[in-house]
Amino acid sequence: MFNFSFQNPTTIHFGEGHIEKIASEIPADAKVLLLYGGGSIKANGVYDQVIAALSQHEYFEFSGIEPNPSYDTLIKALDVIETNNIDYLLAVGGGSVVDGSKFVAAAACFEGEDPWDILAKQAPVKQALPLAAVLTLPATGSESNGNSVVTRDGNKLAFSSPLVRPTFAILDPNVTLSLSSRQVANGVVDAFVHVMEQYLTYSINAKVQDRFCEGLLMTLIEEGQRVMQAENQQDLTLRANIMWSATMALNGLIGVGVPQDWSTHMIGHELTGSHGIDHARTLSIVLPAVMKVCQQEKRSKLLQYAERVWHISHGSEDEKIAAAIEHTEQFFKQMQVPIRLSDVNLGASDIDNLVQGLENHGMLKLGEHGNIDLAKSRQILETAL
Ligand code: NZQ
Ligand code: ZN
Repeated sequence: MFNFSFQNPTTIHFGEGHIEKIASEIPADAKVLLLYGGGSIKANGVYDQVIAALSQHEYFEFSGIEPNPSYDTLIKALDVIETNNIDYLLAVGGGSVVDGSKFVAAAACFEGEDPWDILAKQAPVKQALPLAAVLTLPATGSESNGNSVVTRDGNKLAFSSPLVRPTFAILDPNVTLSLSSRQVANGVVDAFVHVMEQYLTYSINAKVQDRFCEGLLMTLIEEGQRVMQAENQQDLTLRANIMWSATMALNGLIGVGVPQDWSTHMIGHELTGSHGIDHARTLSIVLPAVMKVCQQEKRSKLLQYAERVWHISHGSEDEKIAAAIEHTEQFFKQMQVPIRLSDVNLGASDIDNLVQGLENHGMLKLGEHGNIDLAKSRQILETAL
């Protein structure tokens, strides 16, 4: 195992009725900015619960943060913060609202000339407004990590800082019942791929991390398949399992001390940036191709994945690996997400532009060995046709 230091200071309040905890968690004298998206929280009652919990606080609102949050929208929140002397942010929504609020938290305290530099030049974040989250869509893990992804003119860029990790996060599985089945499926697949990218590399005999990952993968497969069946859609136990799995998938714990491979995400971001495809639906297209193209580097872990996650015990090693990839694709199909570029009407003629995007964004050495260069990314995209 590699050396590591680990701390995750986000307090998680998990379960029904916890939204009221906002009242005691946010300092009484804070001037709060409530940030949210396109209105789902007004339709499902979350907004009313949050407003009730904020009744003793002075608060302002900023809405309209869109999926794959746009820089041009987020930057407008800075005026509201300055005008009203806001000193605490409360993000209520999915990963996009939480990520967008993280950028706002950092941009509000940024001393450089242009806050876009936080993303484009990875300008250091030295200070940020405190931020908390009420999560309404389990998927990204953003509620308890320091990552943020923001889009501007087709460029989907990320930054990371411990200063924007939420101080507390409220996870009430009840609020996920209003999600469309497309968003539920997207969330399961995103979390699944987060685990895979911290697991499917090379073996260093990190048994704790490996078995945490395998447990999460099996839970996401089991509950993912169940939640797609109409009769289970209101099952709160199942929603709770999905919600906690998604948080655990990217709160830092399973990734400590092990090699990681975020190539699926980086290539996927180009598909969202250029073609507007939902984040998770880019991952379900790219991951099977990464598994195929990087089969040799990932051989021992692919075999472990085949045996422990899919219980494949027969056949040659190559047959087991092929079966594991096939099972992964079948699982994605059950989740009704695309597994090929052709499923989203993209073809060979679109690949040049995607590879150019990777080059523009400096994605030249991806993978756990840094050996996924532009040629190999092209091969991955061609394999995904
Ligand atoms: O905007 P509203 O009206 O709230 O509607 C949202 C949005 O349209 C809706 N929604 C959310 N909760 C709902 C709901 N609808 C009904 N009931 C609810 N309870 O769902 C739609 C999608 O929301 P979004 O926040 O975009 O989804 P998600 O949570 O999947 O976030 C995706 C974003 O997170 C980034 C992605 O790149 C993408 O921009 N990621 C962030 C990561 C991180 N911070 O660590 C890691 C991930 O890999 C990912 O890159
Ligand atoms: Zn993701």
